[in-house]
Amino acid sequence: MEIVTDRLSKAAEIAAFTGAGMSAESGVTTFRSNDGLWAKFKPEELASMSAFIKNPRLVRGWYEERRKIVAAAKPNAGHYALAEMERDFRLQTVITQNIDNLHRRAGSEAVCELHGNIEQNYCMDCGMRYDGSNFAVIDETQRCTQPGCTELVRPDVVWFGELLPEDEWNSAVKAAERADVVLSIGTSGVVFPAASIPQIARKQGAYVVEINPEATCLSQTADAFLQGHSGEILPRLLEGLRHQRQQSSIR
Ligand code: OAD
Repeated sequence: MEIVTDRLSKAAEIAAFTGAGMSAESGVTTFRSNDGLWAKFKPEELASMSAFIKNPRLVRGWYEERRKIVAAAKPNAGHYALAEMERDFRLQTVITQNIDNLHRRAGSEAVCELHGNIEQNYCMDCGMRYDGSNFAVIDETQRCTQPGCTELVRPDVVWFGELLPEDEWNSAVKAAERADVVLSIGTSGVVFPAASIPQIARKQGAYVVEINPEATCLSQTADAFLQGHSGEILPRLLEGLRHQRQQSSIR
């Protein structure tokens, strides 16, 4: 822990790369645990364009359920610690695979959402955006209400087989390449291209720290593995950074 705090305090730029485990302590279910989402549901029946075209109501209903769950969830101590690292230290970017918006709700501003945002929807034809405030008007038909447009409105999330949003991906790669330290938090690291972010950073010389209660495929190559829950470890790292700053101002 002390070595990692030391690296963080000396870094000119830090990036965080987060996955579903980051929100586990907020009560949001992860994907690949024994009771995870992909143990109960088949991704190809819910998280794909063909599923949506076949049964928009079913897919919409599933996302609506999840949207309500994350809307009711609160950011946890880990989300707040990252927001404070951005405000008070050198965390420049949070690169997240999560669609739950909890980083922004905790106060993080520089967030790259690689897999979209469940609060947002858009028309597949004209691109009209529908968020919480105007989404209710399309609830019955799932179709766009713009004059002359009747196309389906889909959630702004990345489905299986789809490309990542280009701007978000490019910003994430730049942030990873610039970073001296990357914190990889709560991800199994098996969904690409997102999972390549820690390797991209490492190739450019970054010190990669994994935070996870379990070892993953990243653990072997990470420079440090802090085993535990992000809601406990991140506040401890933040505390360590504050302590170091205080010590150096006394000296
Ligand atoms: P996974 O469900 O694959 O992995 C979650 C990871 O979080 C596991 O390694 C857990 O050990 C870890 N974890 C659990 N609780 C934790 C805690 N309190 N603190 C820290 N870590 C904890 O989720 P992701 O890696 O995010 O894609 O999955 C990647 C992508 O697969 C998702 O973005 C989603 C899914 O299919 C799309 O929807 C496109």
